[in-house]
Amino acid sequence: MRLVAGSIVPLTVLLMVVVLSSFGGQLAAENEDINVREACSVTRFQDICVRSLSSFSHFAGRNPVRWARAGLSVALREAKGVAVYLQEVKRGGQIHGRRQRIALLDCTECLQDTVDNLHRCLRILRVLTREGQSGSEVDDLITWMSTALTDEDTCLDGFEGEKAKQVGHIRQRVLNVTYLTSNALALSNKLATTTIPK
Ligand SMILES: *[C@@H]1O[C@H](CO)[C@@H](O)[C@H](O)[C@H]1NC(C)=O
Repeated sequence: MRLVAGSIVPLTVLLMVVVLSSFGGQLAAENEDINVREACSVTRFQDICVRSLSSFSHFAGRNPVRWARAGLSVALREAKGVAVYLQEVKRGGQIHGRRQRIALLDCTECLQDTVDNLHRCLRILRVLTREGQSGSEVDDLITWMSTALTDEDTCLDGFEGEKAKQVGHIRQRVLNVTYLTSNALALSNKLATTTIPK
């Protein structure tokens, strides 16, 4: 009997630990869910924001600079991917007609500029992470990101009215980059009105 009791106590303790820690894990997951939704509440494309940024919840917590970095890194990664895709389309020669080929060339250039400008933004956010609040850096950040968004819009304008399937696909992918960039911009705009923790 004593032997059984002796093994029941540690077993009960073990069970409690397991139950409590899974409960704690669930609470943490719920908190992360709340954090991403709260961060994304300032964005225009909230569903896309929550979907693309939820995996950053643990990293970003409630820190606005980290959320801006997360939004930017997703936009930058997608922009790079689309830039590569545009190069492939250009090489593949599937785009016909003079007007469309010019639009593709312009768009490829615009996407490259977008990638460069988003890189600039990432460098600024790294400085902000290290050194905390600085008004002029936030201004620069917002300027470069707005420029990136303008370049993406310029690309889309070039293809306006074109009905070819391949063009539709290009537009879709570039449009997606504009959504992600717009979200990153909204997350960055928030830095202008909040105190950045060091
Ligand atoms: C839009 O970007 C997200 C994030 O990179 C990606 O997961 C998704 O597949 C993209 N959608 C389209 C239509 O390109």
